[in-house]
Amino acid sequence: MDDTSRSTHDAGQPPLVRLTDVNKHFGALHVLKDINLSIQRGEVLVVIGPSGSGKSTLCRAINRLETIDSGTIEVDGKQLPEEGKALATLRADVGMVFQSFNLFAHKTILENVTLGPIKVKGMKPQAAKELGLSLLERVGVESQAQKMPAQLSGGQQQRVAIARALAMQPKVMLFDEPTSALDPEMINEVLDVMVGLAKDGMTMVVVTHEMGFARKAAHRVVFMADGQIVEEADPETFFTAPKSTRAQDFLSKILTH
Ligand SMILES: Nc1ncnc2c1ncn2[C@@H]1O[C@H](COP(=O)(O)OP(=O)(O)OP(=O)(O)O)[C@@H](O)[C@H]1O
Ligand SMILES: [Mg+2]
Repeated sequence: MDDTSRSTHDAGQPPLVRLTDVNKHFGALHVLKDINLSIQRGEVLVVIGPSGSGKSTLCRAINRLETIDSGTIEVDGKQLPEEGKALATLRADVGMVFQSFNLFAHKTILENVTLGPIKVKGMKPQAAKELGLSLLERVGVESQAQKMPAQLSGGQQQRVAIARALAMQPKVMLFDEPTSALDPEMINEVLDVMVGLAKDGMTMVVVTHEMGFARKAAHRVVFMADGQIVEEADPETFFTAPKSTRAQDFLSKILTH
């Protein structure tokens, strides 16, 4: 993306996702420490940091797969509901793609994508099918629509998982290390789909160590360590001139591999 498209999100609008003073413990372990973070509409945010720094917990808190102990998380101006129908509605606004694709093994690829729109959104089967096929086409696996997940490669399955999340027409998409379980030759086909989404203006939070993706698509990189946001910058600045010693150490380690 060039610099003009990077700055297209409207700074005058309220953020799509806003975390304010968010704290989370697992027992004695303080995993999110006073997190303050806003994600603008159309922004692509890459979250990077050592294992155990709280990246997954942060994502899971944003769609309330994890509760938080204090602070607030708002999506599109609304605070995260505790439970019930309001929570289901909010979950539909926040799409999530995990490291393990978790497709429904006994349903076809197309059924995997249409199930959510039919069950959760009450969409008519025919409309869901049309939507599903168009999304499978968008991620490049339309020819696999009638197959079962086990018949697809890991890269194809992950692209189906992205289509499945998109089928709920989310306002923001969270990706938690979407390529780290894939064989190397399949990483790019998934990243290409994500770059395409970013270009289309999707708001995205992406936990990844793929610097190529960050450089190509991210507006901002957030570096986490020990449950805190230690540093944030545009990708070029972060990867070429990290300020904190934590980030310098981390980058020197991942760059030597
Ligand atoms: N359900 C849980 N119960 C107890 N501790 C947990 C739980 N989930 C995560 N943790 C701990 O919280 C800390 C943060 O975990 P988290 O998974 O968010 O880190 P991460 O940055 O995503 O790490 P990785 O890069 O390995 O995926 C870790 O110390 C982890 O062991
Ligand atoms: Mg994680």
